[in-house]
Amino acid sequence: MPRPKVLATRPLFPAAQKILNANCEVDYWTLPERISKEELFRRIQDKDGLVCLLTEKVNEELLAAAPKLRIAANVAVGYDNITVADCTKRRVVATNTPGVLDETTADFAWTLLMAVARRLGEGEALARSGEWKGWDLDQLVGADVWGKTIGLVGFGRIGRAVARRAAGFQMKVIYYDSVRVPLDVERGFHAEFRDLSALLHEADFVSVHVPLLPETAGLFNAKTFSQMKPTAFLINTSRGPVIDEEALVEALESKTIAGAALDVYEKEPVIHPGLKRPNVVLAPHIASASLETRTKMACMAAENVVALFKGQRPPNILNPEVLKAN
Ligand code: GLV
Repeated sequence: MPRPKVLATRPLFPAAQKILNANCEVDYWTLPERISKEELFRRIQDKDGLVCLLTEKVNEELLAAAPKLRIAANVAVGYDNITVADCTKRRVVATNTPGVLDETTADFAWTLLMAVARRLGEGEALARSGEWKGWDLDQLVGADVWGKTIGLVGFGRIGRAVARRAAGFQMKVIYYDSVRVPLDVERGFHAEFRDLSALLHEADFVSVHVPLLPETAGLFNAKTFSQMKPTAFLINTSRGPVIDEEALVEALESKTIAGAALDVYEKEPVIHPGLKRPNVVLAPHIASASLETRTKMACMAAENVVALFKGQRPPNILNPEVLKAN
């Protein structure tokens, strides 16, 4: 039996390569620059499997160029880059990497939250500049984190991991989600449900943990910003298009809110120039980027591919109907 042919759009990590190489013939894209669309379309033609990143679109156009493809394994939990319905139509399995990045992403949401509240970006720049004249009473005074109210928009695995950390800062936790979780779960996280408007009026820190869906695109806009406190900060480690960046810039300029800390952007890698201001902390989409977690994500994608070719159900399948008999 010939081994299945797989394209990996990055070299992945050695542990993931080991899983793939033991079972498949793998074509790794190893150049430092990203694979171009032309090259991706050329290489995918004869492949049975694809391990891809969230920067690659898996849609009808790509699938039409990949007549043999049976699986597209995303190395990310968010899969808005994959049009699952297109995959299903062509009987291509789509998978993602849920669960392994929750704690690491929650750590980073807190990194951003504290950095913006305590003005770390500005402080770091000053400390490096050679201009620092020493301790001063009112120098770079920020906002306290401890004892404040954190509002979580989205209360799935990552939102809950953020909530757990809030206890150490003696914070009140409120959350909004399209579906309210059972009371015992709320109690377990010391979290109280609010509708979105009430949450925005009450929270000192609003941290976003929703997937990008038609219902969440532009969820943060001029109207929602106007409901936030002028002392409040917005933190986003989910997906950029959940925030209308033009409206965010306007809210920052008009002091409708106090600041923002962002890991994701509407048109990555482009960052709206109006966001490059002192009260905004900017990170380049690295919330899950610990070596341990990124290795786990790559291994998970590899395991999904290998499972399918061994005739098993990929553990993180997004469209199980593809595996049902005709
Ligand atoms: C990263 O953004 C992910 O969705 O895993």
